[in-house]
Amino acid sequence: MVNKITVVGAGNVGATTAQRLAEKELARTVVMVDVADGIPQGKGLDQWESAPIEGFDSRIVGTNGYEETAGSDIVVITAGIARKPGMSRDDLLNTNAGIVKQVSEQIKKTSPNAILIIVSNPLDVMSYVAKEVTGFPRERVLGMAGVLDTARYRSFLAEALDVSVRDIQAMVLGGHGDTMVPLISYTTVSGIPVTQLIDKAKLDAIVDRTRNGGAEIVKFLKTGSAYYAPSSAAVQMCEAIVLDQKRILPCAAWLEGEYGMKDLFLGVPCKLGRNGLEQILEVTLTDAETAELAKSAEAVREPMRAVKL
Ligand code: APR
Repeated sequence: MVNKITVVGAGNVGATTAQRLAEKELARTVVMVDVADGIPQGKGLDQWESAPIEGFDSRIVGTNGYEETAGSDIVVITAGIARKPGMSRDDLLNTNAGIVKQVSEQIKKTSPNAILIIVSNPLDVMSYVAKEVTGFPRERVLGMAGVLDTARYRSFLAEALDVSVRDIQAMVLGGHGDTMVPLISYTTVSGIPVTQLIDKAKLDAIVDRTRNGGAEIVKFLKTGSAYYAPSSAAVQMCEAIVLDQKRILPCAAWLEGEYGMKDLFLGVPCKLGRNGLEQILEVTLTDAETAELAKSAEAVREPMRAVKL
């Protein structure tokens, strides 16, 4: 385990992330920080009281200040407002940019060596805000989206094929929005290309459902957005870093020429280890996938240009 992981935002995503981190004992101390008076303290205490039952020794602490977060190894940023029905992630842009900016300024001061994992939406742009404000190198600023989008895609495929979720290997690249790019050419079931097992119409429907996976949940919940799968995804990234697993996971990373693009965060296959982003893998894409990735990049650049830093 590492010494300290901070989760900023003690709302649905943040609190669930903190609980999962503690249950996996990924840090000696998990600090939850939020502006809401009493919420991080109350949730943190409640979670800590589950430790004797769940059997974890990670200490969970809730606070409204950044003192307790000092010297964090990893900071997961979930602060911000969530979507309501009919809203796109981009509708959250300037509200969440202001919040992520304020949080990043604090983290820069108190945890200058931390690895940041951004969860607040619109994800790719919020990752850019955090990188700009902290000035951290790209190895230490990652956005959580691809792991979540891929999990949704894998769960839908497992259901359609009636096979274990464990046997579905897949990767969803691009921005965290409806232009995301599920890579059909790299989707396999224990190595068997998925196209041998499912007809095109069904696969197309699954790709479409994946692209709108977040909105499907928002429509049910009405008052907020998804948090169980998003927190699982953020924690999987933390685990790969803490345990130096060198896992290959799709994450939003700052591109410096990879895939022919630069100066934006976009979902690409990343190797995660103790140093954060250790490598971006450049895989061969079909012409259609290349075009879709370029389109997705444009959908990220537009709100990036609009964001006030
Ligand atoms: N600093 C710390 N916490 C803040 C700040 C701030 N400046 N501003 C808001 N928060 C907190 C709120 O007080 C709230 O507790 O962020 C929390 C957000 O929690 P929820 O409203 O439950 O939202 P959640 O579902 O957790 O989503 C948070 O993650 O997945 C994304 O799109 C989602 O942007 C949203 C974010």
